[in-house]
Amino acid sequence: MPKPSKAAQLWAERSELVSTGTAAYTSVVVDHAQNATIWDVDGKEYIDFGGGIGTINVGHCHPAVTAALREQAGKLLHTSFHVCAYPGYMQVCRKLIETIPGSSKKKAILFNSGSEAVENAVKYARAYTKRKAIISFDNAFHGRTLLCLTLDGKYKPLRQGLGPFAPEVFHARFPYEYRPPKGLKAEDLTAYCLGELEKFFLTEVAAEDVAGIIVEPVQGEGGFIVPSPGFLPSLRKICDKHGIVLIIDEVQTGFGRTGRFWAMEHEGIVPDLVTVGKSLGAGMPISGVVGKAEILDSVAAGAIGGTYGGNPMSCAAALAVFDVFKKEKLVEKAGQIGAIVKKRFDSWKDRFPVVGDSRGLGAMRAIELVTDKKSKTPLPGAKVKEILHACEDQGLIVIKAGVFDNVIRTLMPLTISEKELNKGLDILEGALEEAQP
Ligand SMILES: Cc1ncc(COP(=O)(O)O)c(C=O)c1O
Repeated sequence: MPKPSKAAQLWAERSELVSTGTAAYTSVVVDHAQNATIWDVDGKEYIDFGGGIGTINVGHCHPAVTAALREQAGKLLHTSFHVCAYPGYMQVCRKLIETIPGSSKKKAILFNSGSEAVENAVKYARAYTKRKAIISFDNAFHGRTLLCLTLDGKYKPLRQGLGPFAPEVFHARFPYEYRPPKGLKAEDLTAYCLGELEKFFLTEVAAEDVAGIIVEPVQGEGGFIVPSPGFLPSLRKICDKHGIVLIIDEVQTGFGRTGRFWAMEHEGIVPDLVTVGKSLGAGMPISGVVGKAEILDSVAAGAIGGTYGGNPMSCAAALAVFDVFKKEKLVEKAGQIGAIVKKRFDSWKDRFPVVGDSRGLGAMRAIELVTDKKSKTPLPGAKVKEILHACEDQGLIVIKAGVFDNVIRTLMPLTISEKELNKGLDILEGALEEAQP
């Protein structure tokens, strides 16, 4: 009998030792990674289109990031920012503030995860407005802590059986162009969703009781759904009219992914608060809330924070990330990658019966898989898995998204070579060619 591979042995350990609650997008057991390539424990090579779920925009183990970490590791690992300040923390805040649109005075604060940033953005919105209600959207994803779960617009498997959930959270309708209400024309979708929101203020919660509206400028886990044109600017106007804090969640869309540094820039949105995370740390845990100083200064001293938030190692990584973005022009690179991926995805939409939609912004691109294009019935999860596993066999890591789990999305490092990008796309194309609805 052939000896099981190291990966298979370690996968068996994973099953024995690790809670089944944690997702398994692939069965890869990784040993090391560099730029857009991952090597497993048996030496098998993979092109990485998953990018650590959007955390590795500068590529795996970027030499500038690892050098900064090595240097920082010899200097200071941790004091907690509550106990002692250190320059890296302020430098990251300054860099973040400089990138956020809008002329009003801004401040920032750092945390460990996207969920933690979202939790705290909600606290700030409530403290500032002295109101309680928060509105998020269907298909939204903001994290997995109890409040974030409540904000999420997908029930299974995220929320089922895990409640009761946080009170005063309401879900409004997000304009999903591929799946509009029956009979509605695409060009009427923005007006429809805004009309629904006005109705919502009468039937669900009054606008003057709403502390914040939280929105992803492109829905990430929900399936890379780009809102219909004008929707985000209209939300801005509604928030201004009713004194509601507009929280733009850029945790997945940020750091160049969409071909702008922040996705909100595509529609000229000036936010009140922004939540950031993922690619800020190139794999080190760091997140933050950035926004209007008057909102970030509206809580009592000591009300917000945490032991590790913005720890020196993560700050060192984040500062290196900012440098890499500038030196390697990664925002422009995202546009170039996006154009290549879009061309291929659009052609697959014409060619393959299972590809119902091709969409995205910049390098944040996706295809939505269906059993037939007319009914748009989502391709069952098991079939989607078959496609992803076929890619894995051929040496491509690529992950899914969407409320129906039928969206294949690209989050490859923005440093990927054109050769690797095209090779990865060839593998995905081959898997789709084989796929039967
Ligand atoms: C838009 C958005 N917000 C928040 C989060 C939560 O981030 P984390 O998993 O770091 O808690 C995610 C994670 O995917 C996300 O995509």
